[in-house]
Amino acid sequence: SLPTQVRIIDVGPRDGLQNEKQPVPAAAKIELVARLQAAGLREIEVTSYVSPKWVPQMADNHEVMSGIRRDARVRYSVLTPNMKGLEAALRDRPDEICVFGAASEAFSQKNINCSIAESIERFAPVVQAAHAQGVAVRGSMSCSVGCPYEGDIAPERVAYLAGLMKGIGVDRVDVADTIGVGTPRKIQGAIEAALTHYDIAHVSGHFHDTYGQALANTLAALELGVWNFQSSVAGLGGCPYAKGATGNVASEDLVYLLHGMGIDTGIDLDQLVDAGAFISAQLGRKPNSRVATAILNK
Ligand code: HMG
Ligand code: MG
Repeated sequence: SLPTQVRIIDVGPRDGLQNEKQPVPAAAKIELVARLQAAGLREIEVTSYVSPKWVPQMADNHEVMSGIRRDARVRYSVLTPNMKGLEAALRDRPDEICVFGAASEAFSQKNINCSIAESIERFAPVVQAAHAQGVAVRGSMSCSVGCPYEGDIAPERVAYLAGLMKGIGVDRVDVADTIGVGTPRKIQGAIEAALTHYDIAHVSGHFHDTYGQALANTLAALELGVWNFQSSVAGLGGCPYAKGATGNVASEDLVYLLHGMGIDTGIDLDQLVDAGAFISAQLGRKPNSRVATAILNK
């Protein structure tokens, strides 16, 4: 049976904005976080502590993290690829950090400049140091069904990576369809692979909507009992190291689907649409969400 409640992590401030060419002021990012938490989001991925040469848009991580008005009910997470990133992140007191690996070797090289095995060696002390400070650790598994460089990715590769993540103490993992090529049965295969090492409460779906499959993939994941999902308000986003990849599934579309099926999210859809309209106006465009468009045109 389907879950009755779903937890959404809005990754818009990080995944959504990281690929924007125009600099988005820290104040706008801070306001976006405020609007997301006002809409009822209880998990927000705020920023990343990566090389500013690689991802200039996230260079204001400290300013953003120190500017947000914290709500004790909200879990704020940030990306940290290595010890340098973790040390900077810990000064800004995130509730959770996220290490990000890939099921594909080629993507690991392009995204974080090392092999899968090397990435795990780098993550191990990061996980340990985060846990020593009482900070939770999530592990993202990019290219869980397909890779822009290697094509189809077999579920065994996801199981292998999930096992490595489990081995270094990562608390929970994200099955990420980085380039949005997945279809429901493939997504289920990747999720089942992750479930060989993690229980259902510790596996989330992170679906980009490049091929328009993200909602169908969400339903497929729900059928397996997955109740944690990542999405970006206004469908913002893309990954700088996955050419042509568009945004995550829009949070508004995800919430509409879930509420329509009687699944609780704790999110107020109208306020979420407002948050998406706010950041889209900042970027000088319309929200990339069918639901937001429909509601705004009513
Ligand atoms: P590298 O060049 O191999 O690292 O990059 P290095 O250790 O040799 O350091 C090179 C330079 O970077 C040095 O500076 C370091 O100080 C600096 P220099 O001496 O040249 O001036 N540096 C850092 N600066 C700030 N923060 C740090 C940091 N680390 C090193 N943490 C590295 C390795 C991982 C740093 C680099 O490849 C990088 O920053 N990559 C960015 C990757 C990224 O942010 N990708 C997007 C996020 S992942 C994603 O979107 C996928 C996801 O959404 C799931 C999905 O959809 O698939 C999560
Ligand atoms: Mg992503």
